[in-house]
Amino acid sequence: MTNNVRTGQEETERLLGEASGTTEFELLGLEWTLLPDVFAPFHSPSTANYSQWLPYPAGGTLLEMGCGAGVTAVYAALSGCAGVTAVDIVPAAVDNTRRNAERHGVADRVRVLESDMFGALGTGERFDLVFWNSNAIEAPADFVYTKDLEHSVLDRGYQSHRAYLREGPRHLTDDGRLFIGFNSRGDLDHLQRIADEEGLRLEKVDSTSHEFPDRVVEFRLFEIIRAGS
Ligand SMILES: C[S@@+](CC[C@H](N)C(=O)[O-])C[C@H]1O[C@@H](n2cnc3c(N)ncnc32)[C@H](O)[C@@H]1O
Repeated sequence: MTNNVRTGQEETERLLGEASGTTEFELLGLEWTLLPDVFAPFHSPSTANYSQWLPYPAGGTLLEMGCGAGVTAVYAALSGCAGVTAVDIVPAAVDNTRRNAERHGVADRVRVLESDMFGALGTGERFDLVFWNSNAIEAPADFVYTKDLEHSVLDRGYQSHRAYLREGPRHLTDDGRLFIGFNSRGDLDHLQRIADEEGLRLEKVDSTSHEFPDRVVEFRLFEIIRAGS
């Protein structure tokens, strides 16, 4: 087992432990529902901070990749986005986001789809803002997922990161902006290489550090911009 997979699986176990039995939590001054097998957004400052740092386009549209419990998607709708599309590869996350959108009265403007990256979207769909709080730890290309929660932490061969950087720009409106929340457990050099290959660059927008029992993790929001612009 590689160190990355060990770190990812320890993180998964920690998430399972911290979320076990939790069905309700408070974040950003609101009450939320959490379903089993869904990333618990209260164990680190990532979800709350990214949700507050993003520049929501008033009256515009957001695509949230990997929506989990749906906090960012719902917060965006409450913050003035007219249309939010939220997708996740894990079915429980899709159900969870729908429930939280209903709970906060924004189900009419939050569309939720089960999707592996952009797969369930139409090729012509464009958004003013596209964002993913990513599963930053790279797993080997032959890694086999055995728990849904592992999708929150581990990305096999960085396939999803590559897809996000390759396909994300094609789903932006003319003035659309692409962002990724990428924590320091991830391999920033590898992400940078993918960006270079796609003719993109990463610009750090904001960051915060959090001390876990075993290490300090930095949660960083990057804007992904066409190189040269
Ligand atoms: C770190 S969690 C973030 C969850 C939520 N956005 C939040 O901030 O609380 C990453 C999310 O990405 C989802 N994910 C991972 N790979 C994906 C893929 N290929 N397509 C869609 N979603 C994916 C995971 O299931 C998980 O919900």
